[in-house]
Amino acid sequence: MDLTQAILLRKSRRSYKDEPIPQMQADALLRSIDELNAQSGLHIQLVTDKQAFASIRKNYGFFKNVPAYFVLAGNESDPKLHEKVGYYGELLVLEATRLGLGTCWVGSTYDKAQTKAELAEGERVVCVVSVGVAAGNDTLRERTIYSMIHTKSKKLEDLYECDETPPPAWFLSAMNAVLRAPSARNKQPVRIIYKDGKIEAATGEFQVNKIDLGIAKCHFDLECKNGFQFKNEL
Ligand SMILES: Cc1cc2nc3c(=O)[nH]c(=O)nc-3n(C[C@H](O)[C@H](O)[C@H](O)COP(=O)(O)O)c2cc1C
Repeated sequence: MDLTQAILLRKSRRSYKDEPIPQMQADALLRSIDELNAQSGLHIQLVTDKQAFASIRKNYGFFKNVPAYFVLAGNESDPKLHEKVGYYGELLVLEATRLGLGTCWVGSTYDKAQTKAELAEGERVVCVVSVGVAAGNDTLRERTIYSMIHTKSKKLEDLYECDETPPPAWFLSAMNAVLRAPSARNKQPVRIIYKDGKIEAATGEFQVNKIDLGIAKCHFDLECKNGFQFKNEL
């Protein structure tokens, strides 16, 4: 399975088997983290500890048996920190999916005070991603939470502007990957604009929107076959 196939398979998983990540998958994740940190300058870490998701009050009861999480951290002076966290964090999420693991981006429903992270001077944690062996098919509990926090998905046409009618096939296939990008509360706030031969992406001003922007750019790049890559601007 490659990362574009992982895009089709990924969905947020919040209930896990009460077991650690198998060694082979954990080693593969650590190798990916090293590569992504070297490319991005971020300080992504894999933390095997249950405390950040142990308090039901802090996780609103959304999560069960989370065995580990990725800490997505980086230098707070980097003006593109949130966007980079979205882009490189999503590459890691898709790698975990490829390895058969479940994941969920988590910006708020975890215990920040209990999060274990090694931070150098000037670094901060932006958010985390839970990771582990998912509890079989979607559990009833997961489906209930999904309907509570997952707003209605948008249509493909709502996600782009294009001055060619119809838009070129390569653009539409990249947009189909953007349609599947996870976003906070599934708000899908990112627009891709393709005009006068130029590709741009826009979103709201909140920091969480910038994470969503990075995630959407990552999905676009993975399916974009005309040579353009948002990665070159990060
Ligand atoms: C930046 C970001 C923050 C998120 N924060 C949370 C969170 O705090 N708690 C939670 O349960 N899900 C969180 N999610 C998961 C979204 O609710 C989920 O991705 C969205 O509903 C789309 O569903 P899907 O991932 O299954 O496609 C977050 C997602 C993103 C991208």
